[in-house]
Amino acid sequence: MGDSDIENIKENKKKKRRAIKIKVPSISIGKKSSSAAGLQSSDKVKKIIKKPGKKEPGSIKVPHVSLEKNESEKDSGKKTAITRIKLPLIGREEEITAVEKDLEGTFKTEKESAEPGYKRNLLKKLSLTHKRGIEEYNFEEHGSLLDIRLEYPYESKQEYWVKSGLAKVVIAHNVKSKLREYLLFEPELTPFEYELLERIHEDLRDVLILTDEELGIEREKLLISKVTYLIDYYGLQLEKSSLFKIEYYLIRNYLGWGRIDALMIDPLIEDISCDGDDVPIFLFHRKEQNIKTNISFDTNSLISLAITLAQRSGKHISSANPIIDATMPDGSRLQLTFGTEVTSRGTSFTIRKFRETPFTPVDLMDLHTFNIDMLVYFWLAIENNMSLVFIGGTASGKTTSLNAVSLFIPPLAKVISIEDTREVTLFHENWIASVTREVVAEGGGAHVDMFMLLKAAMRQRPEYILVGEVRGHEAQTLFQAMNTGHTTFSTMHAGSVDAAIHRLENEPLNVPRNMLQALNIMSIQKQIQIGPDRVRRCDEIVEIAGIDPATGNIMVNTVFEYDPVADDFSYTGRSQVLGDIAAFHGWGPEMLVEEMDRRKQVLQSVKEQNIRDYVNFTKVIQAYYIDKNNVIENLDDLAELVA
Ligand SMILES: Nc1ncnc2c1ncn2[C@@H]1O[C@H](COP(=O)(O)OP(=O)(O)OP(=O)(O)O)[C@@H](O)[C@H]1O
Ligand SMILES: [Mg+2]
Repeated sequence: MGDSDIENIKENKKKKRRAIKIKVPSISIGKKSSSAAGLQSSDKVKKIIKKPGKKEPGSIKVPHVSLEKNESEKDSGKKTAITRIKLPLIGREEEITAVEKDLEGTFKTEKESAEPGYKRNLLKKLSLTHKRGIEEYNFEEHGSLLDIRLEYPYESKQEYWVKSGLAKVVIAHNVKSKLREYLLFEPELTPFEYELLERIHEDLRDVLILTDEELGIEREKLLISKVTYLIDYYGLQLEKSSLFKIEYYLIRNYLGWGRIDALMIDPLIEDISCDGDDVPIFLFHRKEQNIKTNISFDTNSLISLAITLAQRSGKHISSANPIIDATMPDGSRLQLTFGTEVTSRGTSFTIRKFRETPFTPVDLMDLHTFNIDMLVYFWLAIENNMSLVFIGGTASGKTTSLNAVSLFIPPLAKVISIEDTREVTLFHENWIASVTREVVAEGGGAHVDMFMLLKAAMRQRPEYILVGEVRGHEAQTLFQAMNTGHTTFSTMHAGSVDAAIHRLENEPLNVPRNMLQALNIMSIQKQIQIGPDRVRRCDEIVEIAGIDPATGNIMVNTVFEYDPVADDFSYTGRSQVLGDIAAFHGWGPEMLVEEMDRRKQVLQSVKEQNIRDYVNFTKVIQAYYIDKNNVIENLDDLAELVA
């Protein structure tokens, strides 16, 4: 151990978590020198099952002791998920449906007449209507349009507006079932208002289609102005509140997603799922986890919603083609089945809601999914063309992490992303975003799957290939890509490193073991329960350190690990990736630490200056690639720097 090493250790103690102790070249199997993790003292290089498909208990790496706790908590979460479907539907959810049901009869106005050309005249006038002095609803000025009365068995636990004054969510405790429910309240219409709404709906439809293109961003205003005009035209004097309510529903139905519009807007919702006809919609709520709503659809409304969802996502759904995967216009991921063709309880859908602004690495640091050292590690690794895979269970945040760290890709590098549904969002010019295509019907063109896209990508000289999720024979191509010098980031469904490697080596992925070595880093992510919150944590980051020549086992080196008791991460002090990077650049340990410190300062400043959107975040990173000194000199005002 040289002087510099000793100095490093001292430095380390002094700076606590700021500096990372690097033992550059050493990745050989050996004991960790310090016991930073507290609980751990085993070998840091773990061995993985030797023969594909065959378990050898002796050689399986010992999982972290701490993880068992998480597992059981996850289980208990699942239990509630099962009971949810069996809950009886209780009257209250009719609150909103009521207005749409019991209304009959026709709305008549004096101006409606059999006069020839009436309809055409009306359309013409409406098409010509431009924005005029209209009064728009304003919560502060006009107050709430809702009248919420919670009745037995509900007790309100939390309330928040999704649209101020117009749509409110009440998280209520159901005294009978002892479960929480998500109750959405929207303005209640009188029978007259309802009928008027129906009528306007009809009269507006054609006009809106006619002028849709001109509307641009002014869609809402134009819609309102047309409605105001129509009401004048009918010769009606409406109370303001009635007018606002009607406008709300028209906007929601024409420009939004109808009954599920508020759910699409509510930022606390991660997933929306509809399991079938007349079954309440369930949500995955950031705070409440799985929760039942007071919204359900009968067969026909559900079918028409399904058709709208599919069409607006540019797909086609029907009995002949009853199952689709699609990306909604806002980027949300949609899975849809039609009627009872393949889902016996009726049309079903699941929407994984898209965050308008994807999480940046700094957001993930704030959420404590990663710490700053881990981010700097990813940053250096990505710059230096290391291949990564994010592993975890369903909705553990794999794609989110993949997207976040991809913001570290150097500015000019050629990037190709390959996904089933578009999820990755980058601010990167030299980027081809490819998506697979399923054949819908005969003559619908060729089927294009991940494998084909990946093969095509390899011929396009990409530097970075992002693969949404590896689950089929494209895995081999992906590893070929890594073995031929491409940098790849992908996600994979597996609970642990062992499980991931096992999956990779077996059917249907079948990646030969020696090809696995081209993968550099695996990051394992979990959802765990901390107090009342369900949070995402990176469980460990490991490096594939090669194949043990003596046993043929894959050697895996843990670089960072999570301690659930302290809810903190620790660096094990050994990283082959950092060692290789330092060697490549001819850096000694101090220089590596210096470089890492500089990057930490950048990330820290980004955090302090609250640069949250991914575009500006990327600009800072790109500025660093282009002229790091300039960024370091301007750390105090990064916003100005990237403006
Ligand atoms: N670190 C995080 N902290 C909090 N929420 C997160 C985090 N990462 C992801 N999420 C949220 O969790 C949800 C699922 O994330 P994501 O789609 O990335 O998961 P996934 O593991 O790729 O899921 P799937 O297995 O379905 O592909 C999203 O709503 C996302 O916004
Ligand atoms: Mg995903």
